[in-house]
Amino acid sequence: MRKIYLFDTTLRDGEQSPGVNLNKQEKVEIALQLERLGIDRIEAGFPAASPGDLEGVAAVAKAVKNASIIGLSRSREQDIDAVREALKDAQDPCLHLFLATSPIHRKHKLRMEKEQVLETAERAIRYAKQYFSKIEFSPEDAGRTELDFLCQVTEMAIKAGATVVNIPDTVGYMNPAEYGNIFKTLKEQVPGIENIQLSAHCHDDLGMATANALSAILNGADQIEGTINGIGERAGNTALEEIALALATRPDYFQANTTLNLKEIARTSRLVSKLTGMVVPGNKAIVGANAFAHESGIHQDGMLKEKTTYEIISPETIGLKESKLVLGKHSGRHAFREKLIDMGYELDDEAVNTAFAKFKELADKKKQVTDEDIRAMLEEKLYET
Ligand code: KIV
Ligand code: ZN
Repeated sequence: MRKIYLFDTTLRDGEQSPGVNLNKQEKVEIALQLERLGIDRIEAGFPAASPGDLEGVAAVAKAVKNASIIGLSRSREQDIDAVREALKDAQDPCLHLFLATSPIHRKHKLRMEKEQVLETAERAIRYAKQYFSKIEFSPEDAGRTELDFLCQVTEMAIKAGATVVNIPDTVGYMNPAEYGNIFKTLKEQVPGIENIQLSAHCHDDLGMATANALSAILNGADQIEGTINGIGERAGNTALEEIALALATRPDYFQANTTLNLKEIARTSRLVSKLTGMVVPGNKAIVGANAFAHESGIHQDGMLKEKTTYEIISPETIGLKESKLVLGKHSGRHAFREKLIDMGYELDDEAVNTAFAKFKELADKKKQVTDEDIRAMLEEKLYET
């Protein structure tokens, strides 16, 4: 089984979510939980962005022992020096350099020709190589970069000393087939590609960040970058918990897996949500409140008979206690009776039938019927024939 490395950028790209600002202590708290989760690589921030971010990255570098710590840098010496300063106490430091390569960014943002882009990136990588043995290079907006130029950039980065080349779909423009094809082409055409790791970094503007990252894996990516709960710029990044569970659920299909401690996922998700203030939507895959909740009678009946009828992952896998059978208007008698037993009510068939009819009337008026509603109903506040 091929190992897929997980590069977590909750503290950098995740912190770029509008409205999110993590202080030094919060960064350390999240980083230590990411370490417990078994993340291989943690991008702690962008040290040149502000003195506070440099301090935050330095504090993470000091606290974390079992994951590589990464600092982001533009392709300029001052930024690289800021990362050197921030990572001086890291056990396993890595520099993440980036420079845009797409025609849109070259023309409007950088105002550079292809040759200048190649020269600028090469100069930065060679400068950084004096101080870092591990360097990741990202051609920003790789997804919209001409494929032949991307091959040229990748070849240059390898020759200059990059150890990982990351392929950012910066604006979430790709679809799985095209994005996978980039990895396939780089693997086939770039000399020296076997000596480095290839990484995928996807954004979710069209809702395809996880699908694109999985396609990259199928086409040879060694590393997936993303965040917890999928937070990040605009619509966010690939959610790493989705990648870990997609691989763990279908190792037969992907022939690849992560070494994540899956039982720490729920706790990590809650911590990131609490400290960033970003609420996890109820229907979010894996970590949403409804991910293991069943409302319809047919599903509840199936679940009560055999959980695998409607659950492909057990809640225990990610560190939750149990699935929830939520009572609403679609729920059936089987789940209702189980709920009564759970709540300590022993009713005969006739009483269950009467209570069930009342419950259905109430369920038509309310989105969800709670234990308190049922108790009130049975104690004749609502249940009076
Ligand atoms: O999305 C992006 O292009 C980035 C780079 C800095 C890797 O986050
Ligand atoms: Zn990004």
